[in-house]
Amino acid sequence: MLKIRGVITGGFVLHGNNDQPANSVINRWNKVWVMRSLKYCVDCSLDGFIARDDHSYGFLIREGEHFDEFIESMKTFDIALMGKTTYDVGLKAGVIDPSLNLQQFVISSSLDKTVDDRIKIISKNASKFVSRLKSEKGNDILLSGGSTLATNLLNENLIDEIQLRIHPVIIGSGIRLFGSHSKTVSLQVRRQKLYSNHVMLLAYDVKY
Ligand SMILES: NC(=O)c1ccc[n+]([C@@H]2O[C@H](COP(=O)([O-])OP(=O)(O)OC[C@H]3O[C@@H](n4cnc5c(N)ncnc54)[C@H](OP(=O)(O)O)[C@@H]3O)[C@@H](O)[C@H]2O)c1
Repeated sequence: MLKIRGVITGGFVLHGNNDQPANSVINRWNKVWVMRSLKYCVDCSLDGFIARDDHSYGFLIREGEHFDEFIESMKTFDIALMGKTTYDVGLKAGVIDPSLNLQQFVISSSLDKTVDDRIKIISKNASKFVSRLKSEKGNDILLSGGSTLATNLLNENLIDEIQLRIHPVIIGSGIRLFGSHSKTVSLQVRRQKLYSNHVMLLAYDVKY
């Protein structure tokens, strides 16, 4: 039996149909496609920090197979989302590249303009915006971070996969993978891999 989860611009999100994947979408012309997944892909220390309090991240290993695989995986995305602080830090470090083959969005209520018109600002209704993106046809959506944005989207049940590259280091304090949030979220391991440089990949499906 079809269960309608919600109305999306121009269509419905359907669940529980034996004929369709659980995350399929059908539009008003009866075209069906699989919803894009939102994947939070981050590097962190063993104790769960994605950066130090001053936003430095020199404790992360920036080369090797884990890094090459991540760069390779960029082909599976066509959109990247980031919070304003991640954008600011990336800009200072010179790693925000508007010419990347990804449509980039910065979620921010305070930013007026970005370094390049191709990087768009979403200033309100972030979760509605992300829900709409997920219902549209396309590749998966990369959630670059940071913690504040990821926590907000997790609270809205919008993150589908969490992909951690856990680095072999304990740093004691910094910016957490997730900030405090109100509920317990169950996970199921999708993939794991240990690289020769001792970075560990752990990818989880989020079970809402
Ligand atoms: N290790 C890694 O792989 C990795 C990856 C990404 C980021 N990082 C690091 O993480 C740190 C940044 O994380 P963070 O948690 O401090 O900040 P963040 O999530 O990048 O940005 C937070 C800001 O984004 C905006 N925002 C977030 N959710 C929003 C929503 N629902 N609606 C409207 N605006 C929203 C707000 O900006 P306004 O105040 O303008 O509204 C908020 O202050 C940086 O040091 C970065 O380098 C590490």
